Amino acid sequence: MNRSPFHPSTFGSLFAAVCLSLAGCKPADTGGTSKDAGSGTGSGANPGKIRVGEYASLTGSEAAFGQSSHKGTQLAFEEINKSGGVLGRQIEHLVEDTQSKQGESATISKKFISRDKIVALLGEVASGRSLEAAPTCQAAGIPMISPSSTNPKVTEMGDYIFRVCFTDPFQGRLLSEFARKTLKAQRVAILSDTASAYSVGLAKFFKDPFMAGGGQIVLEQKYSSKDKDFKAQLTAIKAVNPDAICVPGYYTEAGLIVAQARQLGILVPIFGGDGWEAPQLIEIAGGKALENTYYSTHYSSENSDPLVQAFVAAFKARFNGETPDAMAALGYDSAKVLIDAIKRAGSTEGPKLRDAIAATKDFPCITGRTTLDASRNASKAAVILTVKDNKFKYVETVSP
Ligand code: PHE
Repeated sequence: MNRSPFHPSTFGSLFAAVCLSLAGCKPADTGGTSKDAGSGTGSGANPGKIRVGEYASLTGSEAAFGQSSHKGTQLAFEEINKSGGVLGRQIEHLVEDTQSKQGESATISKKFISRDKIVALLGEVASGRSLEAAPTCQAAGIPMISPSSTNPKVTEMGDYIFRVCFTDPFQGRLLSEFARKTLKAQRVAILSDTASAYSVGLAKFFKDPFMAGGGQIVLEQKYSSKDKDFKAQLTAIKAVNPDAICVPGYYTEAGLIVAQARQLGILVPIFGGDGWEAPQLIEIAGGKALENTYYSTHYSSENSDPLVQAFVAAFKARFNGETPDAMAALGYDSAKVLIDAIKRAGSTEGPKLRDAIAATKDFPCITGRTTLDASRNASKAAVILTVKDNKFKYVETVSP
Protein backbone atom coordinates (compact mmCIF):
# COMPACT_ATOMS: atom_id res chain seq x y z
CA MET A 1 0.00 0.00 0.00
CA ASN A 2 1.13 3.48 -0.74
CA ARG A 3 2.26 5.45 2.28
CA SER A 4 2.32 9.14 1.58
CA PRO A 5 2.77 12.01 4.00
CA PHE A 6 -0.99 12.39 3.70
CA HIS A 7 -1.87 9.07 5.26
CA PRO A 8 -5.17 9.24 7.19
CA SER A 9 -3.32 8.83 10.49
CA THR A 10 -2.27 12.47 10.15
CA PHE A 11 -5.89 13.43 9.64
CA GLY A 12 -6.60 14.80 13.12
CA SER A 13 -4.28 17.77 13.04
CA LEU A 14 -4.78 18.51 9.36
CA PHE A 15 -8.52 18.41 9.76
CA ALA A 16 -8.35 20.93 12.58
CA ALA A 17 -6.29 23.21 10.35
CA VAL A 18 -8.75 22.82 7.49
CA CYS A 19 -11.71 23.65 9.75
CA LEU A 20 -9.98 26.75 11.06
CA SER A 21 -9.09 27.96 7.61
CA LEU A 22 -12.66 27.51 6.48
CA ALA A 23 -14.39 29.42 9.23
CA GLY A 24 -16.60 32.00 7.61
CA CYS A 25 -16.85 30.36 4.20
CA LYS A 26 -20.14 30.96 2.44
CA PRO A 27 -22.30 28.01 1.41
CA ALA A 28 -21.50 26.41 -1.90
CA ASP A 29 -23.77 26.44 -4.86
CA THR A 30 -24.87 22.83 -4.61
CA GLY A 31 -27.48 20.88 -6.42
CA GLY A 32 -28.98 19.50 -3.24
CA THR A 33 -30.58 20.70 -0.07
CA SER A 34 -28.67 21.15 3.13
CA LYS A 35 -31.39 19.77 5.42
CA ASP A 36 -29.61 16.49 5.74
CA ALA A 37 -26.33 18.02 6.84
CA GLY A 38 -24.28 15.69 8.93
CA SER A 39 -25.66 12.57 7.34
CA GLY A 40 -22.41 11.88 5.60
CA THR A 41 -20.60 9.58 7.96
CA GLY A 42 -23.43 7.54 9.43
CA SER A 43 -24.10 4.06 8.12
CA GLY A 44 -27.59 3.46 9.38
CA ALA A 45 -28.16 5.46 12.54
CA ASN A 46 -29.03 8.48 10.45
CA PRO A 47 -31.13 7.55 7.45
CA GLY A 48 -30.42 10.90 5.73
CA LYS A 49 -29.02 11.29 2.30
CA ILE A 50 -25.55 10.12 1.36
CA ARG A 51 -23.53 13.14 0.32
CA VAL A 52 -21.15 12.79 -2.58
CA GLY A 53 -19.08 15.71 -3.89
CA GLU A 54 -18.13 16.27 -7.49
CA TYR A 55 -15.64 18.88 -8.66
CA ALA A 56 -15.34 19.63 -12.35
CA SER A 57 -14.32 22.33 -14.83
CA LEU A 58 -17.86 23.52 -15.59
CA THR A 59 -16.53 26.81 -16.97
CA GLY A 60 -13.23 28.03 -18.43
CA SER A 61 -10.91 26.61 -21.06
CA GLU A 62 -11.71 22.95 -20.29
CA ALA A 63 -15.43 23.49 -19.72
CA ALA A 64 -16.29 20.77 -22.23
CA PHE A 65 -14.63 18.20 -19.97
CA GLY A 66 -16.40 19.27 -16.80
CA GLN A 67 -19.80 19.71 -18.41
CA SER A 68 -19.68 16.28 -20.00
CA SER A 69 -18.41 14.45 -16.94
CA HIS A 70 -20.96 16.26 -14.81
CA LYS A 71 -23.83 15.19 -17.04
CA GLY A 72 -22.66 11.58 -16.90
CA THR A 73 -22.34 11.70 -13.13
CA GLN A 74 -25.72 13.35 -12.76
CA LEU A 75 -27.41 10.73 -14.93
CA ALA A 76 -25.93 7.91 -12.84
CA PHE A 77 -27.11 9.43 -9.54
CA GLU A 78 -30.56 10.22 -10.93
CA GLU A 79 -30.90 6.61 -12.03
CA ILE A 80 -29.83 5.22 -8.67
CA ASN A 81 -32.07 7.61 -6.75
CA LYS A 82 -35.05 6.73 -8.93
CA SER A 83 -34.46 3.05 -8.26
CA GLY A 84 -34.61 3.64 -4.49
CA GLY A 85 -31.07 4.82 -3.73
CA VAL A 86 -28.33 2.82 -2.08
CA LEU A 87 -28.49 1.21 1.39
CA GLY A 88 -32.02 2.58 1.45
CA ARG A 89 -30.76 6.16 1.24
CA GLN A 90 -30.82 8.72 -1.55
CA ILE A 91 -27.61 10.20 -2.96
CA GLU A 92 -27.22 13.93 -2.48
CA HIS A 93 -24.95 15.08 -5.29
CA LEU A 94 -23.04 18.28 -4.46
CA VAL A 95 -21.22 20.00 -7.30
CA GLU A 96 -18.46 22.62 -7.42
CA ASP A 97 -16.90 24.33 -10.44
CA THR A 98 -13.08 24.44 -10.62
CA GLN A 99 -13.39 26.97 -13.47
CA SER A 100 -10.49 25.19 -15.26
CA LYS A 101 -8.24 27.12 -12.89
CA GLN A 102 -5.25 26.11 -10.86
CA GLY A 103 -5.67 26.47 -7.11
CA GLU A 104 -9.45 25.99 -6.92
CA SER A 105 -9.47 22.23 -6.44
CA ALA A 106 -7.66 22.14 -3.10
CA THR A 107 -10.04 24.73 -1.63
CA ILE A 108 -13.09 22.95 -3.01
CA SER A 109 -12.05 19.56 -1.62
CA LYS A 110 -11.48 21.08 1.83
CA LYS A 111 -14.91 22.74 1.81
CA PHE A 112 -16.59 19.54 0.70
CA ILE A 113 -14.97 17.52 3.45
CA SER A 114 -15.07 19.86 6.44
CA ARG A 115 -18.33 21.68 5.78
CA ASP A 116 -20.43 19.34 3.67
CA LYS A 117 -19.24 16.07 5.22
CA ILE A 118 -19.16 14.23 1.94
CA VAL A 119 -18.45 10.50 2.03
CA ALA A 120 -16.55 10.46 -1.27
CA LEU A 121 -15.33 12.86 -3.94
CA LEU A 122 -15.63 12.38 -7.71
CA GLY A 123 -13.28 14.31 -9.99
CA GLU A 124 -11.40 15.98 -11.46
CA VAL A 125 -11.14 15.40 -15.15
CA ALA A 126 -7.72 17.02 -15.58
CA SER A 127 -4.73 15.37 -13.93
CA GLY A 128 -3.29 18.67 -12.68
CA ARG A 129 -6.43 19.48 -10.72
CA SER A 130 -6.83 15.93 -9.37
CA LEU A 131 -3.28 16.27 -8.05
CA GLU A 132 -4.33 19.41 -6.18
CA ALA A 133 -7.32 17.86 -4.39
CA ALA A 134 -5.95 14.37 -3.75
CA PRO A 135 -3.84 15.30 -0.67
CA THR A 136 -6.92 16.66 1.15
CA CYS A 137 -8.91 13.48 0.51
CA GLN A 138 -5.99 11.29 1.47
CA ALA A 139 -5.43 13.23 4.71
CA ALA A 140 -9.11 13.07 5.61
CA GLY A 141 -9.54 9.41 4.70
CA ILE A 142 -12.26 10.27 2.19
CA PRO A 143 -12.04 8.25 -1.03
CA MET A 144 -11.60 10.18 -4.26
CA ILE A 145 -12.33 8.65 -7.66
CA SER A 146 -11.13 10.51 -10.73
CA PRO A 147 -13.19 9.62 -13.76
CA SER A 148 -10.49 10.45 -16.24
CA SER A 149 -7.17 11.75 -14.91
CA THR A 150 -4.63 9.61 -16.71
CA ASN A 151 -1.33 10.88 -15.27
CA PRO A 152 0.25 8.12 -13.15
CA LYS A 153 1.04 10.48 -10.26
CA VAL A 154 -2.65 11.00 -9.44
CA THR A 155 -3.25 7.63 -7.77
CA GLU A 156 0.30 7.63 -6.37
CA MET A 157 -0.91 10.38 -4.02
CA GLY A 158 -2.20 7.74 -1.63
CA ASP A 159 -4.34 4.71 -0.99
CA TYR A 160 -7.62 6.68 -0.92
CA ILE A 161 -7.14 7.92 -4.50
CA PHE A 162 -8.60 5.93 -7.41
CA ARG A 163 -9.32 6.31 -11.10
CA VAL A 164 -11.65 4.39 -13.42
CA CYS A 165 -9.69 5.08 -16.62
CA PHE A 166 -6.45 3.85 -18.17
CA THR A 167 -3.16 5.66 -17.49
CA ASP A 168 -0.78 7.63 -19.71
CA PRO A 169 2.04 5.07 -19.86
CA PHE A 170 -0.51 2.86 -21.69
CA GLN A 171 -1.86 5.75 -23.75
CA GLY A 172 1.65 6.93 -24.73
CA ARG A 173 2.65 3.41 -25.73
CA LEU A 174 -0.39 2.92 -27.90
CA LEU A 175 0.15 6.28 -29.59
CA SER A 176 3.75 5.34 -30.32
CA GLU A 177 2.65 2.05 -31.90
CA PHE A 178 -0.08 3.80 -33.84
CA ALA A 179 2.44 6.34 -35.15
CA ARG A 180 4.90 3.67 -36.26
CA LYS A 181 2.53 0.98 -37.52
CA THR A 182 -0.54 2.79 -38.83
CA LEU A 183 0.89 6.19 -39.76
CA LYS A 184 4.26 4.66 -40.77
CA ALA A 185 5.92 7.67 -39.14
CA GLN A 186 9.62 7.38 -38.35
CA ARG A 187 10.45 11.05 -37.70
CA VAL A 188 8.02 12.77 -35.32
CA ALA A 189 7.93 16.27 -33.79
CA ILE A 190 6.27 16.89 -30.39
CA LEU A 191 4.47 20.08 -29.37
CA SER A 192 3.49 19.89 -25.69
CA ASP A 193 2.07 22.11 -22.95
CA THR A 194 4.54 22.84 -20.14
CA ALA A 195 1.73 24.14 -17.90
CA SER A 196 -0.14 20.84 -17.81
CA ALA A 197 0.97 17.79 -15.81
CA TYR A 198 -1.03 15.68 -18.25
CA SER A 199 0.71 17.05 -21.33
CA VAL A 200 4.23 16.88 -19.89
CA GLY A 201 3.59 13.26 -18.84
CA LEU A 202 1.99 12.10 -22.06
CA ALA A 203 4.79 13.65 -24.16
CA LYS A 204 7.31 11.55 -22.26
CA PHE A 205 5.20 8.39 -22.26
CA PHE A 206 4.90 8.72 -26.04
CA LYS A 207 8.53 9.60 -26.65
CA ASP A 208 10.20 6.81 -24.65
CA PRO A 209 8.55 3.82 -26.34
CA PHE A 210 8.61 5.56 -29.74
CA MET A 211 12.38 5.97 -29.54
CA ALA A 212 12.87 2.51 -28.03
CA GLY A 213 11.06 1.15 -31.10
CA GLY A 214 13.52 2.87 -33.44
CA GLY A 215 11.55 6.07 -34.06
CA GLN A 216 13.19 9.48 -34.03
CA ILE A 217 11.98 12.66 -32.27
CA VAL A 218 13.20 15.30 -34.71
CA LEU A 219 12.11 18.34 -32.69
CA GLU A 220 10.39 19.13 -29.39
CA GLN A 221 8.53 22.42 -29.08
CA LYS A 222 6.59 23.79 -26.09
CA TYR A 223 3.66 26.06 -25.37
CA SER A 224 1.72 27.02 -22.28
CA SER A 225 -2.06 26.58 -21.70
CA LYS A 226 -4.02 29.63 -22.89
CA ASP A 227 -1.49 30.46 -25.62
CA LYS A 228 -3.29 31.36 -28.82
CA ASP A 229 -0.53 31.70 -31.39
CA PHE A 230 1.56 28.64 -32.21
CA LYS A 231 3.01 29.83 -35.52
CA ALA A 232 6.60 30.18 -34.24
CA GLN A 233 6.68 26.59 -32.95
CA LEU A 234 4.91 25.28 -36.06
CA THR A 235 7.27 27.13 -38.39
CA ALA A 236 10.21 25.50 -36.63
CA ILE A 237 8.48 22.13 -36.95
CA LYS A 238 7.77 22.68 -40.63
CA ALA A 239 11.47 23.35 -41.21
CA VAL A 240 12.44 19.86 -40.04
CA ASN A 241 9.77 18.22 -42.17
CA PRO A 242 8.53 15.47 -39.79
CA ASP A 243 6.41 12.49 -40.86
CA ALA A 244 3.85 13.38 -38.17
CA ILE A 245 3.33 15.73 -35.20
CA CYS A 246 2.35 14.64 -31.69
CA VAL A 247 0.30 17.21 -29.74
CA PRO A 248 -0.42 15.81 -26.27
CA GLY A 249 -2.58 18.70 -25.03
CA TYR A 250 -6.17 19.76 -24.36
CA TYR A 251 -8.71 20.52 -27.08
CA THR A 252 -8.67 24.33 -26.94
CA GLU A 253 -4.98 24.58 -27.79
CA ALA A 254 -4.92 21.38 -29.89
CA GLY A 255 -7.71 22.80 -32.06
CA LEU A 256 -5.82 26.05 -32.65
CA ILE A 257 -2.59 24.16 -33.31
CA VAL A 258 -4.20 21.96 -35.96
CA ALA A 259 -5.85 24.97 -37.63
CA GLN A 260 -2.63 27.01 -37.68
CA ALA A 261 -0.55 24.05 -38.87
CA ARG A 262 -2.82 23.58 -41.87
CA GLN A 263 -2.72 27.35 -42.57
CA LEU A 264 1.07 27.07 -42.68
CA GLY A 265 0.76 24.26 -45.21
CA ILE A 266 1.70 21.47 -42.80
CA LEU A 267 -0.40 18.58 -44.06
CA VAL A 268 1.20 15.62 -42.25
CA PRO A 269 -0.82 13.62 -39.70
CA ILE A 270 -1.22 15.30 -36.30
CA PHE A 271 -2.20 13.18 -33.32
CA GLY A 272 -2.81 13.43 -29.59
CA GLY A 273 -4.47 11.74 -26.63
CA ASP A 274 -7.75 11.94 -24.75
CA GLY A 275 -7.24 15.66 -24.05
CA TRP A 276 -8.52 16.28 -27.59
CA GLU A 277 -11.92 14.83 -26.72
CA ALA A 278 -14.54 17.58 -27.03
CA PRO A 279 -17.08 18.64 -29.66
CA GLN A 280 -15.36 22.04 -29.44
CA LEU A 281 -12.29 20.55 -31.12
CA ILE A 282 -14.21 20.55 -34.41
CA GLU A 283 -15.63 24.04 -33.77
CA ILE A 284 -12.16 25.44 -33.06
CA ALA A 285 -10.12 23.72 -35.77
CA GLY A 286 -12.80 23.12 -38.40
CA GLY A 287 -13.53 19.70 -39.89
CA LYS A 288 -11.32 20.28 -42.94
CA ALA A 289 -8.17 21.02 -40.92
CA LEU A 290 -8.87 17.97 -38.76
CA GLU A 291 -8.63 15.57 -41.68
CA ASN A 292 -5.61 13.34 -41.17
CA THR A 293 -5.62 13.89 -37.40
CA TYR A 294 -6.13 11.15 -34.79
CA TYR A 295 -6.53 10.87 -31.06
CA SER A 296 -6.82 8.11 -28.52
CA THR A 297 -9.66 8.10 -26.04
CA HIS A 298 -11.71 5.94 -23.69
CA TYR A 299 -14.81 5.01 -25.64
CA SER A 300 -16.72 5.44 -28.85
CA SER A 301 -20.46 6.06 -28.92
CA GLU A 302 -20.46 3.86 -32.05
CA ASN A 303 -19.64 0.77 -29.93
CA SER A 304 -22.47 -1.73 -30.52
CA ASP A 305 -22.24 -3.26 -27.01
CA PRO A 306 -25.82 -3.16 -25.64
CA LEU A 307 -24.59 -1.60 -22.37
CA VAL A 308 -23.00 1.27 -24.32
CA GLN A 309 -26.04 1.73 -26.54
CA ALA A 310 -28.41 1.77 -23.54
CA PHE A 311 -26.23 4.47 -21.96
CA VAL A 312 -26.14 6.51 -25.19
CA ALA A 313 -29.94 6.31 -25.45
CA ALA A 314 -30.51 7.26 -21.79
CA PHE A 315 -28.06 10.15 -22.06
CA LYS A 316 -29.68 11.46 -25.24
CA ALA A 317 -33.13 11.22 -23.67
CA ARG A 318 -31.94 13.13 -20.60
CA PHE A 319 -29.86 15.81 -22.34
CA ASN A 320 -31.71 17.04 -25.44
CA GLY A 321 -30.42 14.46 -27.87
CA GLU A 322 -26.75 15.09 -27.06
CA THR A 323 -24.42 12.18 -27.84
CA PRO A 324 -22.24 11.41 -24.81
CA ASP A 325 -18.47 11.69 -25.29
CA ALA A 326 -15.75 9.82 -23.38
CA MET A 327 -15.89 12.25 -20.48
CA ALA A 328 -19.62 11.71 -20.06
CA ALA A 329 -19.11 7.95 -20.10
CA LEU A 330 -16.30 8.17 -17.54
CA GLY A 331 -18.28 10.50 -15.27
CA TYR A 332 -21.11 7.97 -15.35
CA ASP A 333 -18.69 5.12 -14.68
CA SER A 334 -17.06 6.86 -11.71
CA ALA A 335 -20.46 7.29 -10.04
CA LYS A 336 -21.48 3.69 -10.77
CA VAL A 337 -18.24 2.30 -9.34
CA LEU A 338 -18.78 4.37 -6.20
CA ILE A 339 -22.39 3.24 -5.79
CA ASP A 340 -21.40 -0.39 -6.26
CA ALA A 341 -18.71 0.00 -3.59
CA ILE A 342 -21.10 1.64 -1.10
CA LYS A 343 -23.44 -1.32 -1.61
CA ARG A 344 -20.71 -3.88 -1.06
CA ALA A 345 -19.29 -1.98 1.92
CA GLY A 346 -22.75 -1.71 3.48
CA SER A 347 -21.40 1.54 4.89
CA THR A 348 -20.20 5.01 3.95
CA GLU A 349 -17.37 5.12 6.47
CA GLY A 350 -14.13 6.15 4.79
CA PRO A 351 -11.96 3.09 5.50
CA LYS A 352 -14.72 0.58 4.68
CA LEU A 353 -15.64 2.45 1.53
CA ARG A 354 -11.99 2.70 0.52
CA ASP A 355 -11.55 -1.05 0.88
CA ALA A 356 -14.70 -1.74 -1.14
CA ILE A 357 -13.63 0.58 -3.97
CA ALA A 358 -10.19 -1.04 -3.97
CA ALA A 359 -11.88 -4.44 -4.34
CA THR A 360 -13.77 -3.40 -7.51
CA LYS A 361 -13.53 -6.36 -9.83
CA ASP A 362 -14.85 -6.91 -13.33
CA PHE A 363 -17.48 -4.21 -12.87
CA PRO A 364 -19.38 -3.51 -16.11
CA CYS A 365 -18.57 0.09 -17.00
CA ILE A 366 -19.48 1.93 -20.19
CA THR A 367 -15.76 2.30 -20.91
CA GLY A 368 -15.14 -1.41 -20.40
CA ARG A 369 -15.04 -3.94 -17.58
CA THR A 370 -13.29 -2.34 -14.64
CA THR A 371 -10.96 -4.00 -12.17
CA LEU A 372 -8.92 -1.79 -9.87
CA ASP A 373 -5.37 -3.05 -9.40
CA ALA A 374 -3.11 -2.72 -6.36
CA SER A 375 -2.14 0.79 -7.52
CA ARG A 376 -5.85 1.77 -7.74
CA ASN A 377 -5.72 2.08 -11.52
CA ALA A 378 -7.96 0.50 -14.14
CA SER A 379 -6.57 -1.27 -17.15
CA LYS A 380 -8.85 -1.03 -20.16
CA ALA A 381 -8.87 -0.70 -23.90
CA ALA A 382 -8.52 2.61 -25.75
CA VAL A 383 -10.06 3.63 -29.04
CA ILE A 384 -8.57 5.80 -31.74
CA LEU A 385 -10.81 8.35 -33.40
CA THR A 386 -10.39 10.65 -36.38
CA VAL A 387 -12.54 13.38 -37.91
CA LYS A 388 -14.34 12.89 -41.18
CA ASP A 389 -17.00 15.13 -42.72
CA ASN A 390 -17.05 17.26 -39.57
CA LYS A 391 -17.73 14.24 -37.36
CA PHE A 392 -15.68 12.05 -35.02
CA LYS A 393 -15.16 8.63 -36.56
CA TYR A 394 -14.02 5.41 -34.94
CA VAL A 395 -10.71 4.07 -36.34
CA GLU A 396 -9.60 1.18 -34.12
CA THR A 397 -9.57 -0.32 -30.63
CA VAL A 398 -6.29 -0.94 -28.81
CA SER A 399 -6.32 -3.41 -25.91
CA PRO A 400 -3.89 -3.15 -23.01
N1 PHE B 1 -6.79 12.44 -19.30
C1 PHE B 1 -6.84 13.87 -19.19
C2 PHE B 1 -6.00 14.32 -17.99
O1 PHE B 1 -5.53 13.51 -17.27
C3 PHE B 1 -8.23 14.39 -19.05
C4 PHE B 1 -9.24 13.93 -20.06
C5 PHE B 1 -9.83 12.69 -19.98
C6 PHE B 1 -9.63 14.71 -21.09
C7 PHE B 1 -10.77 12.24 -20.90
C8 PHE B 1 -10.55 14.28 -22.02
C9 PHE B 1 -11.13 13.04 -21.94
O2 PHE B 1 -5.77 15.46 -17.72
